[in-house]
Amino acid sequence: MASTPLSRRQSALGSDSRRASIDPSRLVPMDKVSALSGTGDFNVVFVGAGNIMFGSDEGPWNHSFRFEHKLGPRLKVVALIDPAVDRAAAVLQKKCETFVKSAYENTRVYKTLDDYVKNYNRKEAPRAFVVGSPPMFRGTTQPGRDIELQILHHFPDTALFIEKPVATGPSSEIDEAFKVAKAIEEKGTITSVGYMLRYLKAVQMMKQVIEENNLTVMATIARYACAYEAIAKPDWWNKAKSAGPIVEQGTHFCDLSRYFGGEVDISTVSAHSLEWDENAGHLSKMSIDETAIPPENRIPRVTAATWKYASGAVGSFTHLVALQGHDYSCELEVYADGYQLKLVNPYVQPVLYIRRPGSDHEESHRFPDDDPFFSEISVWIDNIEDIEEDPETSHILCSFEDACKSYQLTWAIREASERSRAERLKIQAEAGKQ
Ligand SMILES: NC(=O)c1ccc[n+]([C@@H]2O[C@H](COP(=O)([O-])OP(=O)(O)OC[C@H]3O[C@@H](n4cnc5c(N)ncnc54)[C@H](O)[C@@H]3O)[C@@H](O)[C@H]2O)c1
Repeated sequence: MASTPLSRRQSALGSDSRRASIDPSRLVPMDKVSALSGTGDFNVVFVGAGNIMFGSDEGPWNHSFRFEHKLGPRLKVVALIDPAVDRAAAVLQKKCETFVKSAYENTRVYKTLDDYVKNYNRKEAPRAFVVGSPPMFRGTTQPGRDIELQILHHFPDTALFIEKPVATGPSSEIDEAFKVAKAIEEKGTITSVGYMLRYLKAVQMMKQVIEENNLTVMATIARYACAYEAIAKPDWWNKAKSAGPIVEQGTHFCDLSRYFGGEVDISTVSAHSLEWDENAGHLSKMSIDETAIPPENRIPRVTAATWKYASGAVGSFTHLVALQGHDYSCELEVYADGYQLKLVNPYVQPVLYIRRPGSDHEESHRFPDDDPFFSEISVWIDNIEDIEEDPETSHILCSFEDACKSYQLTWAIREASERSRAERLKIQAEAGKQ
């Protein structure tokens, strides 16, 4: 596959995350997309047979479903890599019982990428890898946790889609994620990272307002309140397993804040947390047994952070593990001279409120049927197929390097909150001694 078109698009994206955008009118739902102009089988390898790939009751994500709609009968999943082979076999069996059978009837299951490479059939060369394995197994340069580098080595011309976050190892490994980003850039591999909120029509409309009015962002204010009652994965509640709610989940809003605010001056990040062992941190409806998690690995209930962007603008983010029920409550406000752009409920039913100069009125915009999971897959495939001739359209909105920067910000927030907790405990202990 030629890498020239990619280089053109990726240079359009560049390292400044504030420039790239898509005209919101180009983001159309699955059922309104006109037929893809490419031809022939589109061979894909899926890494991970879990919820992000095949769906669950926890949310609208389900990459396989979007691939089926984007590629129709052209889709051929040539391999599914997952150490849980029974789970992989079960999802394939289910697919083969439906009208999308032709995409999965010849899919081979492998426990590891190495097994796939050993049994590789050139006639079924993949055009793309979709990596949805847990982040603790990727994003580094270490054997067994370096799947991106292994794919680059064995399949240098094959595109990559990687789920967020890029990794969840210790913060000392963040540099390794940046090394992976460099290797991807050097190879010119078409790569997209799954920060799908960037592809929301509402988000692209915010970009449009900023670009058309030549605005300079003054502040981003983000709030992410998850519905903890619905979170039943024990690993999510264990910092040693998932790296905690900022790195694993708040990452979406840290990324979106950066998308509008630009580069963060990491040295300015400060944060406070409300922890599980403080009176206000008691939760009455957890669906897991937290006593099975070592105290030092239990997650904070509230984390509130502020930082400076390189531009001088100020960012703030509050993550809460506080709500019950099912739906999350999330908002992002972006301010510029005379403007307030307020994105409400991006996960469930996005609404964008805009206040403009010279008026106290708040316009509201709704986006029924918007599907950012489809848009991110659709744009990525269009880039692989190079069917978009206009270099100003259909940019991949999040490169691996950009995603590394969001990962770095989330770790900086977690570590700043842990430092401030340690300082507070020290002061309390000293006061107790007196
Ligand atoms: N963008 C979103 O909104 C969104 C939503 C859900 C999940 N995700 C992301 O997708 C990723 C996977 O999450 P999930 O919910 O599907 O998890 P999951 O636990 O449901 O599935 C992960 C699968 O990967 C398999 N696996 C483990 N080690 C592997 C390895 N080394 N190679 C290949 N497969 C391996 C597991 O056996 C499991 O089947 C995470 O990074 C998560 O943050 C993103």
